[in-house]
Amino acid sequence: MSKFYLTTPIYYVNDKPHIGHAYTTLASDAMILWHRMCGDETFLLTGTDENSQKNSEAAARKLGIAHGVITREQVQGYVDEMSALWQRTWDSIGVACSRFIRTTERDHIVAVNKFINTVRDNDDIYLGTYAGWYCVDCEAFLPEKELKGGMCPMHTRAVERIEEKNYFFRLSKYRDRLIKHFEQHPNFVQPVSRRNEILAYIQDHLEDMSISRPIRHWGIPFPGDETQAVYVWFDALTNYLSGVGYGSDDELFAKWWPANVQIIGKDILKFHAALWPAMLMSAGLPLPERVFAHGFFTIDGRKMSKSLHNAVDPILISEKYSTDVLRYFLFREIPFGGDGDFSEQRLRERYASDLQHGIGNLAARTIAMTHKYAGGKAPRARDESMVEMEWEKYDVAMEGIEPHTALDVIESLLRRADRYIDAQKPWVLAKDETKRDQLLRVLGDLLELLRVCAVMYYPIMPNISEQILTALGQAQWKSEPYEELKKWGRIEEGTAIAKLEHLFPPLSS
Ligand code: MSP
Repeated sequence: MSKFYLTTPIYYVNDKPHIGHAYTTLASDAMILWHRMCGDETFLLTGTDENSQKNSEAAARKLGIAHGVITREQVQGYVDEMSALWQRTWDSIGVACSRFIRTTERDHIVAVNKFINTVRDNDDIYLGTYAGWYCVDCEAFLPEKELKGGMCPMHTRAVERIEEKNYFFRLSKYRDRLIKHFEQHPNFVQPVSRRNEILAYIQDHLEDMSISRPIRHWGIPFPGDETQAVYVWFDALTNYLSGVGYGSDDELFAKWWPANVQIIGKDILKFHAALWPAMLMSAGLPLPERVFAHGFFTIDGRKMSKSLHNAVDPILISEKYSTDVLRYFLFREIPFGGDGDFSEQRLRERYASDLQHGIGNLAARTIAMTHKYAGGKAPRARDESMVEMEWEKYDVAMEGIEPHTALDVIESLLRRADRYIDAQKPWVLAKDETKRDQLLRVLGDLLELLRVCAVMYYPIMPNISEQILTALGQAQWKSEPYEELKKWGRIEEGTAIAKLEHLFPPLSS
């Protein structure tokens, strides 16, 4: 059994979660479910990024007071409330993380102190003066040439001119080591387009980075200088270590670090694929195996934004259609790594065309025919596997974090099953007693195909998968090794097959 440690970004709590955040978290959960199914011991880390200036600004807005006068306690009260809301959201859409980390937690603060002290001992921190343009929404300084009319191009927000004493991290020192790491580990950053983009950035633009800000009322005090706060990204990135015991539980840390996969959105690639690995090199820690940056999506063709009031609430969608349907739609509609669009209308279309007419229909027909022609007991499937190639393709897709390709594999199986039914016409075979064996074999094959599809669907639609497998008398399937599940003919002859109605009920308008 191997270990599989996966992280999501930790989310700012200046607002409630929207479908974009749910996309990252659900994709992470799907990867965890697949690894668990493979028999790996898994750890999923997610949480909230709380020491950010934009959180304290949001707290002031909510309380209706000026940002300059808000107290530490007031901000803490706000982030407590918001962090709980984020936790509830993941609970309600069925994501069970191994730890939900908050960057205001004691062990995280201890870890940040330890980390910075280690980096400083390695002579990678120095005091300097920073003069530049700061965007609070990015929580980053922006080069002047990137500004558009004095605004941050991503957030269309006025940037602040800041000139201040800061501690700097010697990021530029790591340029060559980073480039070498990218060369030696071609899969370190995925997809490959993002790898090339970040490699070019490292080659041409890597500069030392300010990692502290004068402290006001919020943030982690910089170790050794209480007048400064740790720059929120330096603090936040460290969560991937503190979440598994860095600075507080050596045994746990040795067990889980380095992360196997870190899933992020493309907006935060520079932090995760340039700054973060350099930080780890400086602290003498191993790098994560893979950083995967997925794309962004728009809502009905428009950018998701506060001013457009078009943020989609993942809880509402999952209450209306089920979390499985939401998961299916997100992974089917948008090839993981690319950009796409979220539209409820499109989700409804896919519900009908892919789910009701796809797996829903195959399950209903196969089970109904088993009852009609075989007394509800599973006949034996043929001896040789019909799906060996598909398992190979499926595993490659899941390993490569391509849930859309895994869905292609499953859906090709569904089409094959449909063609098989059309060609064999069980209702015709049933009329001829001499064809009884053939009829039973066809039903046995179909039940097996259905079982295989249900197992493959598990990481994407865990509840639907369980319902089908339970109906097929396979309620114990999770205790079986993956290699066994992949074998053909797992449904024992004579197994009672339960009726299964309305996997995907009709939608109300
Ligand atoms: N707090 C930082 C991350 C620190 S990690 C050490 C942050 N937080 S965030 O709340 O802004 O979340 C950003 C992440 O949310 C993105 O990287 C992405 O995973 C997800 N998404 C936010 N909007 C999205 C879309 N419109 N589409 C897809 N994913 C989106 O950045």
